[in-house]
Amino acid sequence: MRLLVVRDPDELATAAADIVQEVLERRPDALIVLPTGNTPLGMYGELVRRHAGGHLPTARMRVAQLDEYLGVAADDPQSLFGWMQRSALGPMGVTSDRVIRFAADAPDPTAACRAYDAAVIEAGGVDLAVLGIGRNGHLGFNEPPSGPDAPTRVVELSAESRAANAAYWSGDAVPERAVTAGMSTILGARKALLLASGSAKAEVVRRLLDEDPSPDLPASLLKHHPDATLIVDQAAYPGEGGGET
Ligand code: F6R
Repeated sequence: MRLLVVRDPDELATAAADIVQEVLERRPDALIVLPTGNTPLGMYGELVRRHAGGHLPTARMRVAQLDEYLGVAADDPQSLFGWMQRSALGPMGVTSDRVIRFAADAPDPTAACRAYDAAVIEAGGVDLAVLGIGRNGHLGFNEPPSGPDAPTRVVELSAESRAANAAYWSGDAVPERAVTAGMSTILGARKALLLASGSAKAEVVRRLLDEDPSPDLPASLLKHHPDATLIVDQAAYPGEGGGET
């Protein structure tokens, strides 16, 4: 896993957007898994600016959701898809027909997870997975412990993840369960980009850098990935410099 340490969230946004742009320039119909959350907001802002300036080829870009709350319909404004559409997809000109979504409100969510994976395979696999890291080391909603073969599935959210998402639910109870792209789908991406920003992530970044890959820290499994990059800003970085981990 390559490590790139940048100064601040602005530099992180630029460096992450550069990687997305490189992938799209090489393959304009690339399939990219995109996360929700605070960390990628700057990157989305940068991508939207580049798109508005005519510098980012999104006309054929395809996207796959990373995760979704169980039982929440895609057109529910509190769905992760709704958030993604408002924050990134709409402003970047990515139409819904180019998004592989979870049917998280389907009567059989496990079948919906299989349909998601089948759609990813049918699309030729994931070219780039952009990921944030949870303070407990989760990727998507693959809470610890999640091994490399953990499939796309229905999961119970940890108390930590529910607390982290409470801000988006303005007083309503955060759902207890979700569907997530499995570790197998994430690790199967041809390229992975993990972003960490802010002092609240310094402890989990320290663990990520220090510990051997283990299901107890799902993000650490990216150390076995042939083309993974971790970008951290200084507030999230517990050491000095960059390099390989
Ligand atoms: C988001 C997701 C999560 C977040 C992670 C970091 O779709 O699946 O894994 O990427 O919890 O969240 P932020 O960026 O809000 O700190």
